Amino acid sequence: MIKNQWYVVLDSKELKKNKLTGVTRFSDKLVFWRDENNDAHCIFDKCCHRGASLRAGKVIDYHVACPFHGFQYDSSGNVTCIPANGKNAKVSDNYKVNAYLVREAYGFIWLWYSDERKNIPEIPYFEDLKEGFSYGGFSETWAVHYTRAIENQLDVVHLPFVHTSTIGKGDKTLVNGPVVKWEDNLMTFYVKNQKDNGHKSRKSQTK
Ligand code: FES
Repeated sequence: MIKNQWYVVLDSKELKKNKLTGVTRFSDKLVFWRDENNDAHCIFDKCCHRGASLRAGKVIDYHVACPFHGFQYDSSGNVTCIPANGKNAKVSDNYKVNAYLVREAYGFIWLWYSDERKNIPEIPYFEDLKEGFSYGGFSETWAVHYTRAIENQLDVVHLPFVHTSTIGKGDKTLVNGPVVKWEDNLMTFYVKNQKDNGHKSRKSQTK
């Protein structure tokens, strides 16, 4: 991943109050939760004590409590309480896990993928969508690396060869798309592969 960027990591709706949400992002196991102001937070999902997965714990006083021996973490990843030592005992600064900066905007939870904490840019978003257009999210887990998934979505050439009985049926090997249209505030995207009757694709005619 490219460092020093904002990334959408969750739909806002996926993050509930008083519940931990554990997900893998950037190959790291992370745990998210909300504080008393409903602000989102994120720390690494591995307790600094004996390595337990924090997502199996719970939220106590808006802190993450480890399920194994009850260590409690704040939004900076610092342990604020070791129950075995007493809830008012001071905790050494050595007890901590990494934390990411997260923000909520436009219906999503965004993560600042960087160690840099100064001069953080605005969260980028589509100007058109900022102006009141409605939109929704959809999520699905594929058992592939994300680069393969993106590449696959952009590659319409393989459809008549690989997906012969579904989205690639009809032997439409000539590629005149994909086409993106923006008309009357409606965006349409379609593949536009065609049967090869001896004519050339639009792209090959321009050469
Ligand atoms: S493993 Fe988390 S408190 Fe012990």
